[in-house]
Amino acid sequence: MNTLELIKKLPKAELHLHIEGSFEPELMFEIAKRNSVEIPYKSVEEIKKAYNFHNLQSFLDIYYAGASVLLYEQDFYDLTYAYLKKCHEDRVVHTEIFFDPQTHTDRGVDFEVVINGIKKALADGEKEFGITSHIIMCFLRHLSEEEAFKTLEESLPFKDDIIGVGLDSSEVGHPPSKFKKVFEKAKEYGYQAVAHAGEEGPPEYIWEALNLLAVKRIDHGVRSLEDDKLMDLIIKERIPLTVCPLSNLKLCVVKDLKDHNLLEMLHQGVCVTINSDDPAYFGGYMNQNFIETAEALSMSLEDIKKVAMNSFEASFLKDELKDKWIKECQEILS
Ligand code: ADE
Ligand code: ZN
Repeated sequence: MNTLELIKKLPKAELHLHIEGSFEPELMFEIAKRNSVEIPYKSVEEIKKAYNFHNLQSFLDIYYAGASVLLYEQDFYDLTYAYLKKCHEDRVVHTEIFFDPQTHTDRGVDFEVVINGIKKALADGEKEFGITSHIIMCFLRHLSEEEAFKTLEESLPFKDDIIGVGLDSSEVGHPPSKFKKVFEKAKEYGYQAVAHAGEEGPPEYIWEALNLLAVKRIDHGVRSLEDDKLMDLIIKERIPLTVCPLSNLKLCVVKDLKDHNLLEMLHQGVCVTINSDDPAYFGGYMNQNFIETAEALSMSLEDIKKVAMNSFEASFLKDELKDKWIKECQEILS
């Protein structure tokens, strides 16, 4: 079996995917038109040309502008359903998607409009493709903790539909410590916790996410390698890193995919996973991330299989389902 055949065949879980980041230019155009919302682009080609980023913030500015055409439940349904079709093509059998409630509620779109659209699409995705899913709502870290508390309270009627809370948006200057109290409260409500840390921010932010927010996974975490003690901890405790190679490349976290530390961390024993982050903006969904990373780093078939198995280990699936998928991965090369 060659690399491409293996990547296509392996069942995979996606654990780091912003649903707003799966908004393809074609769909953006269509929804902007039907909602009569002006966007500053004349064509799909013009949108694609604007996707030239030099850091996280230069991306976020465009990403929030794109999300502004989403107004109705049907829009969130269409967005989510389109992503699930990509999952099906890539053999992503389980996905834990992020959404950013504040990006929408701050524009006057109700929390329930957003979550109901996403939920209905996920239910249809399970019926039609057998894809299981969880929803994680992220607090925008460039906003205040008080605003995050407001979002937390708004989420309570939908508590059973949301497995956990996350932390995203502009990292540097907005450390996890800023959100300690709201994460404590979220945990009292029964939410799981994850956080973006160590994408552009220093290893100290990863320490804070672990020690102050008690997160179960670190999103990105590629700067962990700069800190030996931190590496010891994440290896010993099997704290998963949800790494997004094409995102790191497009946001200039790495200059070249060949420089990516994913394989080095995997070989040191870290529970590394591969994910697409914002695939409509960064040039590829799950399998494209696997293919380009495997090629750039000369990953062996066993390395690739291990990353797929890690994705289930790191998921919020029940143990029984985790074991089933891990076993299926194991049997593929044996
Ligand atoms: N929101 C969407 N994608 C993100 C990323 N890669 N980092 C932080 N916030 C995000
Ligand atoms: Zn992300």
